[in-house]
Amino acid sequence: MSWLNLYELEAIAKHKVEATAFDYIASGANDEITLRNNVESYKKIQLVPRRLASNKQPNTAIELLGQKMDYPILIAPTAFHGLSHKDAELGTAHAAKKTNTTMILSTLSNTTIEDASVAGANMWFQLYIFNNREITLELVRKAEEHGYKALVITVDAPILGKRERDIRNQFHLPSHLSIANLAMHMDAAQLDEHKSASSLEIFFQEQLNNELSWDDIHWLTSQTNLPIILKGILHPEDAKLALQSKIAGIVISNHGGRQLDTEITSIDALPAIAAIVKEKMPIILDGGIRRGTDILKAIALGANAVLIGRPIVWGLADEGIDGSIKVINFLQEEFKQSMQLVGCKNIKELSNEFIYQDSN
Ligand SMILES: Cc1cc2nc3c(=O)[nH]c(=O)nc-3n(C[C@H](O)[C@H](O)[C@H](O)COP(=O)(O)O)c2cc1C
Repeated sequence: MSWLNLYELEAIAKHKVEATAFDYIASGANDEITLRNNVESYKKIQLVPRRLASNKQPNTAIELLGQKMDYPILIAPTAFHGLSHKDAELGTAHAAKKTNTTMILSTLSNTTIEDASVAGANMWFQLYIFNNREITLELVRKAEEHGYKALVITVDAPILGKRERDIRNQFHLPSHLSIANLAMHMDAAQLDEHKSASSLEIFFQEQLNNELSWDDIHWLTSQTNLPIILKGILHPEDAKLALQSKIAGIVISNHGGRQLDTEITSIDALPAIAAIVKEKMPIILDGGIRRGTDILKAIALGANAVLIGRPIVWGLADEGIDGSIKVINFLQEEFKQSMQLVGCKNIKELSNEFIYQDSN
């Protein structure tokens, strides 16, 4: 049976993967308040459409970091696509290629940087900064060599958030999957150790830079010509610091509600950050986007593009490459429809004039 919306797809995906894997994908931190708010916060925002202003083919195209994109929709970096489908990240990359969508490959992928590039999609690489700068640089060089067009540095995970479902399930990677990009830096025994979620936590504690600072970011910008985007910004002061550095853009994100529970949702953080950034660098946003109107609201409030996390993986779990393609097409189509219904011919016209501001 085919699905009509992403909530239905989520219910289907739940039965297509191992229960513990589904929990790993679905879970948020602690009480999962931010996880729920991510979806709920969009529902509270009301649109105020213009009439007699619609266009049969609204122009949904954007340019981001000089890269032309048909829609302001990219694939978020999410770990371990092999949990959802045997094709893992290569499958997702094929879906990205088929839909002309940019994919951000996670450091924690089951497919290597080089293998995921084979699909020929427009690829960016999400980088965790390791204590060992050589490992960090090795990943950067691989991304450069294999044609990745940007580095997305995740700055909201100095440590792993507390995900109680994973702790309860003692979640671990099945034996046929590995953290492919790091396999050569861990001997088999270590990999075994790092297969459980608690070991994933140890991995974060031991291998990743738990004291990541602006100095590390400045160091990285001196090491590569690739544009660097910081993922996980929520505070306007951090956006200000990003503007003062050599950063090419930011992703407003709470990591899908998986890190600090009760932190602000991206859509609520957006207006204050947009007021500071004033179009001086691109703002990307993610978390809880399930409808075309969610994308429209994000753009109207000042984002240049959005990332989609879990729904892509649900699609992969449901029907592999075709399933992820369906998710992307669904969001593209709904976004286009919402532009038509709100009365907007191209993305540049989208502004907070379409958003109801409660003056009380
Ligand atoms: C299963 C899963 C794994 C994730 N892995 C990563 C990761 O490796 N690196 C990263 O920067 N963000 C990771 N994220 C966060 C996503 O990039 C993104 O911020 C989030 O999923 C967006 O919310 P959404 O799932 O509601 O669309 C992960 C999220 C999920 C659900």
